[in-house]
Amino acid sequence: MLTRRALRVAGSEVVGPYTLLRVERGKLDPGIPGQFFMLEVPGRLLPRPMSLCLATSSELGFLIDPIGPGTRALCSLAAGETLRILGPLGNGFRLDVERPLLVGGGIGIAPLPYLSERLANPPAVLGFRTAWHAEAAALVPNAEVVLEPTYVTEVLPPGHDVLACGPAPMLEAVRRLTPNAQLAWEAPMACGYGACYGCAVEIDGELKRLCVEGPVLAAA
Ligand SMILES: Cc1cc2nc3c(=O)[nH]c(=O)nc-3n(C[C@H](O)[C@H](O)[C@H](O)COP(=O)(O)OP(=O)(O)OC[C@H]3O[C@@H](n4cnc5c(N)ncnc54)[C@H](O)[C@@H]3O)c2cc1C
Ligand code: FES
Repeated sequence: MLTRRALRVAGSEVVGPYTLLRVERGKLDPGIPGQFFMLEVPGRLLPRPMSLCLATSSELGFLIDPIGPGTRALCSLAAGETLRILGPLGNGFRLDVERPLLVGGGIGIAPLPYLSERLANPPAVLGFRTAWHAEAAALVPNAEVVLEPTYVTEVLPPGHDVLACGPAPMLEAVRRLTPNAQLAWEAPMACGYGACYGCAVEIDGELKRLCVEGPVLAAA
């Protein structure tokens, strides 16, 4: 049964160009890394999908890139305000991997701190546009950071089980190099639980709902 929970905002911190929004956890299940939550935006009809970035016993954290009206409104929530959240939703990363390597690009690093914690801090390779964006790498232990014009795919060590999240061109490049990778994709989402078909993408030649089949998919 899908339940929306009203959680109190505990605070927020600026991390480079991003905002780490912290909410009191209450009874919310943090789910599996790579699953996502729909965050209701004050004054907006549609919620916005966000990956869980951090989970402690008392708080959940979402790393948000303020690229539009919804994300900007979420970034400006103040401590004590209430946020309605639905989730965890979709399919997260499989955690039964032997030699994990986390790969992230830009705001795609959002699910990696929680994933890193669940996998006992494996190595990570993170790519960013600028040193300012790369301030977010501090959230991921054991990370090697590359800045453009170097891309993560230029420094991937061989022989790992890759778990990746980032922009579509990065994921395509990772997929070509590591066909056994697990990749977390994005598509605009209106409901988050299979009802609207707003997130339909072509998978194996068929249109499928990314919020139900994904967002994490096997590269193969
Ligand atoms: C499963 C999932 C997890 C996500 N996790 C995070 C996260 O942890 N942190 C974070 O900052 N963002 C995350 N996003 C993206 C985030 O949901 C969008 O950036 C947000 O909904 C944009 O809302 P807006 O009102 O600010 O901007 P809008 O005005 O809705 O969009 C601004 C621009 O971005 C484009 N856009 C919006 N959403 C997407 C999308 N999903 N994919 C590609 N282009 C898009 C629009 O077409 C438009 O050009 C995630 C998306 C998905 C599907
Ligand atoms: S977001 Fe509505 S079906 Fe996927």
